Amino acid sequence: MDKISVLISKEAIETRIQEMADKLNRDYEGKEVHLVGILKGSVFFVCELAKRLTMPVQMDFMAVSSYGSGTESDGRVKIVMDMADSIRDKHVVLVEDIIDSGTTLSYLLPILASRQPADLRLITLLSKPDRRKKEVAIDDIGFVIPDVFVVGYGLDYAQKYRNLPYIGILEV
Ligand code: IMP
Ligand code: MG
Repeated sequence: MDKISVLISKEAIETRIQEMADKLNRDYEGKEVHLVGILKGSVFFVCELAKRLTMPVQMDFMAVSSYGSGTESDGRVKIVMDMADSIRDKHVVLVEDIIDSGTTLSYLLPILASRQPADLRLITLLSKPDRRKKEVAIDDIGFVIPDVFVVGYGLDYAQKYRNLPYIGILEV
């Protein structure tokens, strides 16, 4: 069993998600929102967020993988599973667990923009700006964290610990 210490509590995460939802409720008032969660890491975040939205919401998912192993990606990205629905003319909110090097999103955003959504916004639960290699325009960030490897609330280490209800630091 790896040693994990709490970085962000379940209560703090839920409070912040409510604030992020309130902002979307204001910004998209009178519109429909098409949420796209990036699997697997964003599942808890996208569900908790969706439950707090008051406009009509559609939900879709896509899965991407970065090549590489352990805690590092080598810069290449692959769409493992594309979303099911067209995003054309929709108000799309892309929901990510964490933006680290920025590699994944700097690859994905132009692809999604080329599908001609009415507008496209990116929100992430976590951001590690110290690790950025590619600049990414992020519309809302739950928590800015230092350069530490975190697990829980959807985030994994070797596919484990996604189910932890808090964000913890994995001490390796
Ligand atoms: P990128 O480096 O911004 O492309 O992030 C790629 C992916 O790396 C994220 O979507 C996460 O799945 C994963 N990742 C980055 N940092 C962490 C971390 O601290 N814990 C768990 N997964 C991470
Ligand atoms: Mg991952």
